[in-house]
Amino acid sequence: MLTLPSLQIGQHTAHYPIIQGGMGIRISGANLAAAVANAGGIGVISAVALGLNSPYFDITQTNVGKRREQFFEANRLALIDEIQKARKLSPEGILAVNVMVAAQDYETLVRTSAEQGINLIISGAGLPMQLPEFTADYPEVALVPIVSSTRAARIMCRKWERNYGKLPDAFIVENPNSAGGHLGAKLEELGDRTLEAEQVIPELLTYLQQELGKSIPVIAAGGVWNRGDIDRMLALGASGVQIGTRFITTDECDADIRYKEFHLHAQPEDVVIISSPVGMPGRALRNTFVEKAIAGSPDLDKRCLASCLHSCKCRDEQKYYCIIQVLDKAARGDIENGLIFSGSNAGRADRIIPVAELMTELVAAR
Ligand SMILES: Cc1cc2nc3c(=O)[nH]c(=O)nc-3n(C[C@H](O)[C@H](O)[C@H](O)COP(=O)(O)O)c2cc1C
Repeated sequence: MLTLPSLQIGQHTAHYPIIQGGMGIRISGANLAAAVANAGGIGVISAVALGLNSPYFDITQTNVGKRREQFFEANRLALIDEIQKARKLSPEGILAVNVMVAAQDYETLVRTSAEQGINLIISGAGLPMQLPEFTADYPEVALVPIVSSTRAARIMCRKWERNYGKLPDAFIVENPNSAGGHLGAKLEELGDRTLEAEQVIPELLTYLQQELGKSIPVIAAGGVWNRGDIDRMLALGASGVQIGTRFITTDECDADIRYKEFHLHAQPEDVVIISSPVGMPGRALRNTFVEKAIAGSPDLDKRCLASCLHSCKCRDEQKYYCIIQVLDKAARGDIENGLIFSGSNAGRADRIIPVAELMTELVAAR
């Protein structure tokens, strides 16, 4: 294929079929999302725990109830700031927010995003069963669940159709064998070939087109690095790709420079799977923190900051670590004590480049 097709999701059409994956905490904020949107892709702000590194939250607050209340309000206010900043930087681009179903303030973050005029809401880490309800007043907002299997997509379609007379505007199919961050498969399932895009995408398309009789775009996520990978996913029938890790080593990525450089210097063998208090495995880069987490070190801080998740083994069982605190540390540049999520392609970037240059390379004819 010489020229990449555009990507239409709901009422929004991106010039290129490339979505930049939402990356929390504050790895993909307004700067990265706007740069991708300006370059013709879909830019995604990760809404998870934005309040933590914002003027609205005081981490030294010792009253647990007050801290919690302040945390959720800070998340809401910081999300408004981030969406407004992105829109200012990219007045015409297509902007999305990624909200994790697992977050306690999921509904607030979804409603806030819609009120702020976001174009798409992408939602994973659980099945976003009530997403149409929370956005009912904003039909122009496209709704995009992330799934790892046809089974999950089928459950979503049935439930949305029955309850809301609506289907998702697109599906993102994330391959747990290669994607970064929390993975939609159990630890023991990782490596299973039936989770690969080659299996899931054609199977999901068959379900959507033949059983449902609908043409809903399917986006492939996980392990996409270059134009060859994009072409491979399109050949499977995907309408586009979602790329996470490759956007970390860009000038506009919102993380601290030490985080980007850690990614830059990583080797493929540094990519490891760790257990997270969320109850899902995560793909990350080996560092001092990860070594302690894998060894089950008693040194890890197990104090819950704000009860931010519906289900959390740190809060409920005093196990593992507080996920938002370690992700936030990493994003601020504490690359020894923070958690650095990464896809399996870590180690392939050789320099930090502007998003526009990366997008030009990704879309260049082969
Ligand atoms: C640092 C990092 C943080 C991530 N955070 C989130 C998140 O908050 N929500 C989410 O749905 N996916 C998250 N992901 C997954 C990405 O959005 C994307 O789907 C995935 O990384 C694609 O695989 P790739 O990194 O191989 O391109 C994260 C990935 C990384 C690398």
